[in-house]
This record gives sequence, C-alpha cells and structure tokens, in this order.
Amino acid sequence: MISDILTKVKTVKDFDFSGKKVFLRADFNCPLDEEGNVADNSRILAVLPTIEDILKKGGKLIMASHLGRPKGGYDEKFSLRPIAEELQKLLNENVFLADYELDEDRVKKYYKSNEKLILLENIRFYPGETKGDEVFAKLLAPIADIYINDAFGASHRKHVSIYELPKYFKQKGIGYLIEKELAAFWKVLVNPEKPFVVIMGGAKVSDKINVLKNLIPIADKFLIGGAMSYTFLKSQGIETGNSLVETERLDVASEILKFALEKGKEFHLPKDHLIVKDIKDIGSKKYVKDIENGYMGVDIGPDTMQDYKEAILSAKTIVWNGPMGIFEIDEYAEGTKAIADAIKHSDAYSIIGGGDSVRAIKSLGYEDSVDLISTGGGASLKLLEGNGLPGVNILLEE
Ligand code: 3PG
Repeated sequence: MISDILTKVKTVKDFDFSGKKVFLRADFNCPLDEEGNVADNSRILAVLPTIEDILKKGGKLIMASHLGRPKGGYDEKFSLRPIAEELQKLLNENVFLADYELDEDRVKKYYKSNEKLILLENIRFYPGETKGDEVFAKLLAPIADIYINDAFGASHRKHVSIYELPKYFKQKGIGYLIEKELAAFWKVLVNPEKPFVVIMGGAKVSDKINVLKNLIPIADKFLIGGAMSYTFLKSQGIETGNSLVETERLDVASEILKFALEKGKEFHLPKDHLIVKDIKDIGSKKYVKDIENGYMGVDIGPDTMQDYKEAILSAKTIVWNGPMGIFEIDEYAEGTKAIADAIKHSDAYSIIGGGDSVRAIKSLGYEDSVDLISTGGGASLKLLEGNGLPGVNILLEE
C-alpha cells in the first residue's frame, strides 16, 4: 500500500552524505527545441532540491537519466549535453558530462573522481538499461556508496537504473520530488476529502482501465472526456459516427460503467459534442447533442462543459488526467480549457497528471492554483492503479 511505502522508505533526510558518492537517478527527460536546447526545464527544476541538499551535506553526485527513447548505442540527438548545460546554469556549478563508454575502469574512475557533479550519458544508450540486464547493473553498482531515486516520471519502469541497480546498494532511498509526489497521491488515495471528483480523458480506455477500477470505490464522481468517452458511449449502444472507438474494449467499458453503478458512483459521459467531418476539416465543426453519421467527435460540448464545471466547483478533491478533446488543435481545445478554468476556480485539493492536461493548465498560466502538477504521466497513472511504483517498492527490500 502506498501509505506503508511512505512511512517505510528512506528519504534523503535519512542519510549522512558527507564524503560519500551518491548515484542519483533523475528524470531529465525534457523537451528540446529545434536548436537542441532545453525547451522546458520543469523536470530539472523539480530535482534541484535533492541535488542541492546532497551537495550541501558533503556528498558528490553521479547522476543518470534517460532522454527520449533512443534505440541503443550513442545517438547525438539524444545526448544529455543540453541537460548538463542547463544543470550547470541552474546550479552555478561545473557539471561533468561523462563519455558514452562505460566499463569497469571508468566506473572506478568516476567513483574516485573529485568532481562534485558527474552526469552519465543518456542511460538508454546502454542496451542493458531497458532490458533490466543484470550484467549492466553489476557493472554500474561500484560507482557509488548510496543510491537515490528521484526519477518520479520513470519509476514505473523496471529498467536497470530504476529497478535492478538499487538491489546492489545497502543505503538507498528516494529524493524530495518522489517524496512530494507520493505524499500528494497518498492524500487522494488514502484519505480524500469528499466529494472526490476524477476527470479522465485522453484517447484510450485501455490506458485507464485499472485506474478506473481502483478509483471507483474511492472517488464519488467521474467526468469522462476525450476519445475514451466514445468507447463508453458506444458500449451503451449510443451512435458515435466516425469517432475514435476502441471496439475491442467495448465489453470492458460496459463492465466499468456497471461497476460504478453498483458502487453508487456518478459516472458522467459527455451529453453534447463538438463534431467535424474530418480532423483537418475545421470548417465543418459544429456542436450537437447526438453525433451524426459521417462526423467524428473532437471535443466535449457546452452543456457537458457546464455540467463538469459544476461538479468540479463542488469538489473537495480532484484528480485530472487527460484532455477532453484534441487539445493540440486550438479549435478543439475549448473543453480542456474549460476544465482547467474550473479547477482554477475550485478550492479542492487537486492533482494533475498527463502531458496534455498539464500543458492546458500551464498554457493558461494556472499552475499556482493546482496542488500538484505531477512530473510523471505514466508513473502517476501507475500510482492511481493503487500498486505503488516498482522503482520505489524496490527500495524497501533489504
Ligand atoms: C516520461 O516522459 O513520461 C518519462 O520520462 C518516462 O519516459 P518513457 O515513457 O520513455 O519511459
């Protein structure tokens, strides 16, 4: 259980870092601009408190992160050079970017090095990383005395630097970012103030099945949007035209609706829609109650926005993951913006996860009105499934 994890796992506050080498797994997976510079440094900023604390307490850091999904082997496009430069700027300290090559001698050299901040090259350049390869874990293990994971966004992955490597460390724990994220999710999963409203959107029901199954007994109201709502509607025999529907998930969508009903929960599906003939045919857009043949849904309609707004304004706890429509296209972003706006005006404890919902809140400049903007989309969904994160659970093992 997530509540046990928080009380049992060690955090940076529990270690004496003085004179120690610390392996820090961070998630510096930041978007880059066309020139290859960091376009949004939020993920770096989020790990700074951990880095600064370890340095202040006399530790030296060997940091590792992935960037994107390189195929294995060095690929300049995915080099951590821009990350090293950004870190250097933010910390005002030299950051030494290690060679791509890693062997026993280099591992020893980094362990003995006097550099305060070493950043390994993209950890996914090493094919063993994503395969959970024991040989790669054993090679890396002598690089440090203490293992700290602060890569919240990657902690749902059973990769070497997240899941295998800590097995070789006696002293291991989490950083401030993971601690903050876990505490926020603990608050909503274990003891949420009611009414607890869950807003779920995005393309696929399949990504959210286990989240919904776990949250139905806990939360009170579910507001569904995005393409996943068409799968739910279709499962009830409602016409969805050419809208994106996961035909192979109709049964599971029906089961989820039934489960919510059995538990006496409100499960809201859109009652009106923005439809178009084709995604690119913006000129054909119109708001309707029923999706017409030859049209597809691309956003929720104004009555649904109003309903969802009322539910959000009466909530005491909110979790939001996933947009209400095709948010990347301005003309289809109204529903998602309406949700962001309602959350800004609500006084509920709120957590937002998932790329598009986070982008919506940020693009409107509403970050400060949210209690937690999670730095991990996949990881936050995993937590909402109720089983904790592999990269944190492993730190509880002796
Ligand atoms: C993310 O961007 O969600 C994390 O950094 C994890 O990246 P991944 O999905 O490539 O593992």
